[in-house]
Parts: sequence; structure tokens; C-alpha cells
Amino acid sequence: TAHTVLLNTGALMPLLGLGTDKLRPPDMHQAVDAALAAGYRAFDSAAVYRNESDLGQALKELLPKYGLTREDVFITSKLGPKHQGEGAKEAALRSLAQLGVDYLDLYLIHWPGTQNRPVSDQRNPGNRARSWAALEELHAQGKLRAIGVSNYTPAHMRELMQNCKVPPALLQVEFHPQLCQTELRRVCQEYGVCFQAYSSLGRGDLLNDPVVLEVARNCERPPAQVLLRWAVQQGVPVLPKSSNPDRIRGNMEIFDFDISVPDMEKLSALDCNHRYCWDPSEVA
Ligand code: A2P
Repeated sequence: TAHTVLLNTGALMPLLGLGTDKLRPPDMHQAVDAALAAGYRAFDSAAVYRNESDLGQALKELLPKYGLTREDVFITSKLGPKHQGEGAKEAALRSLAQLGVDYLDLYLIHWPGTQNRPVSDQRNPGNRARSWAALEELHAQGKLRAIGVSNYTPAHMRELMQNCKVPPALLQVEFHPQLCQTELRRVCQEYGVCFQAYSSLGRGDLLNDPVVLEVARNCERPPAQVLLRWAVQQGVPVLPKSSNPDRIRGNMEIFDFDISVPDMEKLSALDCNHRYCWDPSEVA
């Protein structure tokens, strides 16, 4: 579709993808079916979601129904924290096998730490470097067409930029009007890294925010579409997760309206450094 962003690898990535955390069969199959029907061409997975094989299976069964092939969809997965370092290469290859594909469009280091918690650990810097080297190797082999990171802070990004041979294509972090990530966006822009949002709906909590509801009335759109539109109108790709076919369809309808400049500013003024997910800034 036309709604894509250009990565620094030269590849195009859809501005909207389906988040798949917590999706299990038979919901996974139903969600992927609704998403493909609605025009989704990107799917965001991760080893820690423990459902890569379910997503791979659903795509294998459903792509032919829509006259599509593997090449028509953009598949992302991520390296789990406990496989950072020595285990990174094997873990990435396991993700490929679980998804049943011979390449991934994008593969991310899921979290800057070696433990899946916001804690410091002396192994972290060495493991991040070893993980990145493994990703670079698989990128050179064509198995990971683009490589990037998730939940990195500005300090983690600078460390990576100073040590990499292949620069990251993308950073995926929590992003919504209460967490505008001004510094991280500036760092990404400086380094030519695509900035991608997760939890655009604040895990659902932002759907009841009075300002979001006011803008929704002005746009005559549901609050979820307003929150997603707020991001893509700034060029930021989004990954709404839903298991409900109606909401999956609705979350795609964000390319046929604009939020006015004053309403964009009203939403951005909600910025208060509020997180619905873990804060990675303690992860040294
Ligand atoms: P559900 O799967 O029942 O649709 P986030 O992406 O910020 O983490 O938010 C995801 C949560 O928001 C999920 O619990 C999902 O629940 C819910 N959700 C996704 N899309 C919508 C929507 N259009 N309206 C209301 N809730 C939504």
C-alpha cells in the first residue's frame, strides 16, 4: 500500500502493523484473517510472546486466501532478553524456524537488558554488543533484511551507534500523547533511525482521556483512531494490538482523515512522561 515509511536499508515498511502479543489460537487465526482482509501487511511478533509458530501457521494458511505470498507481508520478530549475547544467533534462527520463514523483514533486540526486567546487570553492555554482532552477521546473510532495537534509551542508542558496523534501521518504543519521547525522536532523526510506536492506546487506558474524547468528537472518529492518527500524522509507524475483528478493521481506518493542527497540539500537550509499560532507563 501507499502508507509506508522508507527504512535506511532501502526497504519500505507499512505505517501500520498488527501487534500480536497475547494472541493465541483460535484468536490468532481470526485476527490475522481480519487484518489481511482489512489491508494490514505487517505483523509484529517476538520470541517472548511465545506465539511465533501460531502467527507463522496463520499466515501460511491465510495468505493464499487473499492472493498474497510471503513477499507481500512485512514480518518482525525480536530477540528475548535471556538470549542476549552468546545465544543471540541461535535465538534468531529459532524465530525464523518458529515462524516458518527463511527471512525476517525486521528483527529487533527486544530489551536493552539481559533480564526481562528494568534492572541493571553488569553483563548488559557486553551482551548488547555481542547480540548486535550476531544480528549483523545474519543481516549480511540475508536472513534478517533489517535489524534494529526496542526499548533503548538515548544512552543505549549512542552506545550502539558508536560500536556498530551496520546501523539500526529502527527503534520501537512506547509512544502516545502522554509519552512524546522528544529526546529519543531527536536521536533517531539524527542517526537516520526509524522511530516506531508501541502501546499507542496506552494499553487501552488513553481511550477514556477527556482530551482524546474531545478530539474524537471533533474528528467524528473513535478515540483509538485518533490516537493512532496522532502518531502516523507525525510519520510514526504504529502497531495496535487487538484480537477483535471489528477493532482490527477500525484501527486501519486512519489514512482518510486529518487531525487539525490545534487538536494535534492539544494531544501533544498531554505529554507527562507517563508509561504504561516498563521504563528501560534503569537498564545500564
Ligand atoms: P482487544 O484485543 O480486546 O481489542 P496497546 O496497543 O496500547 O497495548 O493497547 C492494546 C489494547 O487495546 C488491547 O487490550 C486491545 O483489546 C485494546 N484495543 C485495541 N484496539 C482497540 C479499539 N479500537 N478500541 C478499544 N480497544 C482497543
